[in-house]
Amino acid sequence: MKLARTIIGARADVAHLPRPLALVPTMGALHEGHLALVRAARSRCAGVVASIFVNPTQFGEGEDYDRYPRNEERDLRLFAAEGVDLVFAPVPAEMYRTGAATVVKVDGPLANTLEGASRPGHFDGVATIVAKLFTIVAPDVAFFGKKDAQQLAVVRRLTADLDLPVEIVGVPTVREPDGLAMSSRNARLTADEREAAPRLYQALEAGRAAAQTGGAQPGAERAAAAQTSVAPPDTSAPAVVVAVVGAALATEPRFAVEYVAAVDRDSFLPAETLGERSLIVCAVSLGTTRLIDNLPALPSPAPVDGARHDTSEVEK
Ligand code: PAF
Repeated sequence: MKLARTIIGARADVAHLPRPLALVPTMGALHEGHLALVRAARSRCAGVVASIFVNPTQFGEGEDYDRYPRNEERDLRLFAAEGVDLVFAPVPAEMYRTGAATVVKVDGPLANTLEGASRPGHFDGVATIVAKLFTIVAPDVAFFGKKDAQQLAVVRRLTADLDLPVEIVGVPTVREPDGLAMSSRNARLTADEREAAPRLYQALEAGRAAAQTGGAQPGAERAAAAQTSVAPPDTSAPAVVVAVVGAALATEPRFAVEYVAAVDRDSFLPAETLGERSLIVCAVSLGTTRLIDNLPALPSPAPVDGARHDTSEVEK
């Protein structure tokens, strides 16, 4: 496995790799979710490039850029064991040179609601670094986790809008046995917070159960009616599902809920009805750690191996 620290070095190494060529962009601190991306890449492509770069421009003021977990030695070992051909791991000054003034911005509700509203500027940072990685590595296929569903939708939009010749593949979320979605930030949870964390997934599961009955769960109508005491309750299936998830999250006092929504997985506009493109998404703070997760509103096939996946399919 080769390691490139510079853009020139990465381009020179990429020129010798077989195609189709995969890119797995990461910020390091690898876990099974990242390794699932590499395995999906390895199964589809002859050459695999992974990047490790904690991208400063996607962290807002007061967010955890400095505290973001970093362990490059371990990451390199794990990538090598998975058969990655090249790791691109630049320092920030290599990616953002003095005087850099160009930003890639995905606009509209897709980038400005939910995660975009909670983290202003976050998706500009993501879109900019992903566009740069695509021009440096020139992959045929790039792999992103479905856990960051809005990021995946933003990257798809960016790729379509700029006519980038890269196929974007979403890889199912990998979960701990208790359902908690794997994330580099989980390492920062205290024992008490770690115990509470799976309730996020359990709340989403309750929402999905309500979705499967079209919102006609016992107690679901009551949860919808509890949304407000002023306006008449919205008893459409998406509203009921959101209310069920919100009610389940509210039973965990350690959660500070940021948002719960039922959305279209591509536009991130609120779902008017529930279908196979509908996602239930939510974000909470737990102590100083922010957790996000999502589930498709419709049922998915059973897991296929030891780790739990949302679906066994790699979705394009
Ligand atoms: O999902 C991540 O790890 C990051 O947002 C990404 C896609 C590597 C861009 O920095």
